[in-house]
Amino acid sequence: MPDPTEQTKTSVLFVCLGNICRSPLAEGIFTQLVEQRGLSDRFHIDSCGTGGWHVGKGPDPRSVLVASKNGLDISHLRARQFDASSDPHMYDWLIVMDRSNHADLIDMGSPEHKVRLMRSYDLSLDGDHDVPDPYYGGDDGFDKVYEMLTRACEGMLDSITAQA
Ligand code: 4NP
Repeated sequence: MPDPTEQTKTSVLFVCLGNICRSPLAEGIFTQLVEQRGLSDRFHIDSCGTGGWHVGKGPDPRSVLVASKNGLDISHLRARQFDASSDPHMYDWLIVMDRSNHADLIDMGSPEHKVRLMRSYDLSLDGDHDVPDPYYGGDDGFDKVYEMLTRACEGMLDSITAQA
């Protein structure tokens, strides 16, 4: 949870459905990017799911594997559920993986100006605005999601730092 007294920090919450495939990867990739740019003290970063089925569990092994193939360890992350009573107030940005997540957050009362599609920061957007849910697909789905999230995280950090 971000500390409200730390007004200088930008707080970012990545949101998907289960918080075991896409959003923990987004959290790990964005955290690593922020570290690489020497900006760690300027961000509070977390992820969650709109559903509660996997609360307390670690990321899907396929997400852990694709992350580790790319030099990133996300095995320590634990799933939590989006909290409609506090998260929309505590975070500056609610970054959702797909339009279904977007609709769910708006339905739960999140302010529209805080909710952004992850792929809105992906300049190579091919017409699809969603990060596809790889949960029921094959392993190559996780590679594609990883590439997509990397591009979108870079675009997002560029956008946030340009505004600051
Ligand atoms: P995620 O993928 O939203 O990217 O974490 C899913 C993980 C689990 C389920 C659905 C999507 N599930 O139905 O359990």
